[in-house]
Amino acid sequence: MDAASAWLPRSLGAVEASLREATAGHGAALERDASATLQAGGKRLRPLLVLLCGGARGGEGSVRAATAVELVHMATLVHDDVLDEAPLRRGRPTVAATSGTGAATATGDLLFSRAFALLAEAGDVEQVQLLSEASVGLAEGELAQRHDEFDTSIDVERYMERCRLKTAHLFECACRMGWIASSAADGQGLEELRGFGSSIGLAFQLLDDVLDVTGPVERTGKARGTDLLDGTVTLPLIVALRRDPELANVELRGLSEEEAEAVCDRIAATGALEEVRSQALELVAESKRSLAASGVDDEQRELLELVADGVVDRYG
Ligand code: IPE
Ligand code: IPE
Ligand code: MG
Ligand code: MG
Repeated sequence: MDAASAWLPRSLGAVEASLREATAGHGAALERDASATLQAGGKRLRPLLVLLCGGARGGEGSVRAATAVELVHMATLVHDDVLDEAPLRRGRPTVAATSGTGAATATGDLLFSRAFALLAEAGDVEQVQLLSEASVGLAEGELAQRHDEFDTSIDVERYMERCRLKTAHLFECACRMGWIASSAADGQGLEELRGFGSSIGLAFQLLDDVLDVTGPVERTGKARGTDLLDGTVTLPLIVALRRDPELANVELRGLSEEEAEAVCDRIAATGALEEVRSQALELVAESKRSLAASGVDDEQRELLELVADGVVDRYG
């Protein structure tokens, strides 16, 4: 940990500088919206994973990969808020809400392009391929979610597959890119680290879906009940429907914000949130088993376990 105190904050600072650089200089409107997304903060969880999987030896390649992953993440958030018609992100009005869907689409496109340009300029071909695969998964996941909107008959397996595509793939990708950036990478441990990323990515989305039901906005930076309002059927609702079959009689289309909050309360009253949370905890435990098998050094493992626990603490 002590050794990390030297390189980790330095690398995180370098990622922030690199994010600012990547979003500057593309015309006033784009710059305004891209910078607003950046300045609004965010947990920087995916860059942290890249840096920790890269370890002290990750160096500039790790910082580049971490920046690219966060740029893709931000791009998907800006686009996601168009698709989900979300009013708030990172505690502020979304780009879609302030500048319109056209500007938000272009801002997301810019962020995507900058991510790939950054890696391509350095000749990181393998990293470009990995990030491209994750981006394709994200797009597929978002499309699957649109396809399923307001469909309360979707099962847990379908829900999990959507979570894998739209969230877990980028977590896996972050871990793999970090590991590849470190000079120690010889392919060994890559699959295990991928498993680690996949499990905490799934846990993260499950808990995000719980937080959408619980709020409050001061805590999440996002409006409570956004998933219900945009027709996204998530695990808390799937479980609640099993526990309280009469919930199926509620018409989800056209809910007002107040009605959505009331449905959130009803979901919570079934005990579904505790069930989803315990599934997420099991995934975090699984992630730690994969991590232990990956062969990362003790310092990396300790820090990555803290990140895995942090995913759950976000809820409690
Ligand atoms: C939000 O991710 C999108 C999901 C996968 C749920 P984060 O909660 O990591 O967003 P920021 O970066 O902290 O804003
Ligand atoms: C994750 O799903 C979105 C992306 C992976 C871009 P959500 O729609 O639940 O994410 P939030 O809640 O808007 O952050
Ligand atoms: Mg959303
Ligand atoms: Mg959400």
